[in-house]
Amino acid sequence: MMLRLTCLAVAGLLCSAPAAAQTTFTPRDESPEEFAAGPGRDEAFYACTACHGFKLVAQQGLTRAQWEDSINLMVRRHNMPPLEGKDRETVLNYLEAAYPPRAPARGGWQNPFAK
Ligand code: HEC
Repeated sequence: MMLRLTCLAVAGLLCSAPAAAQTTFTPRDESPEEFAAGPGRDEAFYACTACHGFKLVAQQGLTRAQWEDSINLMVRRHNMPPLEGKDRETVLNYLEAAYPPRAPARGGWQNPFAK
């Protein structure tokens, strides 16, 4: 009896997890205006929010080469339609300018507990 319940629970998890992931984000939750202004913002926003929130993108701070890798990864691993030519250029220019690697906090690492 216990065993059967456990199996049901596991099956339920397997079935419900992907569905839940899909309903947590809808593009309407965000709009391009919420993010750093700059040429290419709309293009980047719509290219990336086909699958996930732009916050996930905006919270990164990467070099251009790392943004390249990031896009390549989306194409390779997640079946993003390849972003090429001028579109790729536009999106990369925006990401590079708007979300560069963050400078380390002034004064270096601070132990949050040492107050
Ligand atoms: C076809 C779907 C799809 C598109 C389009 C897409 N992504 Fe993603 N992306 C994903 C999925 C799925 C994840 C979930 C995390 C993972 O497994 O990498 C993700 C995760 C990420 C992450 C987080 C990775 C990490 O290591 O935490 C970044 C950054 C990212 N995407 C950047 C982008 C950028 C930039 C674009 C637009 C140029 C984009 N994505 C467009 C599917 C997509």
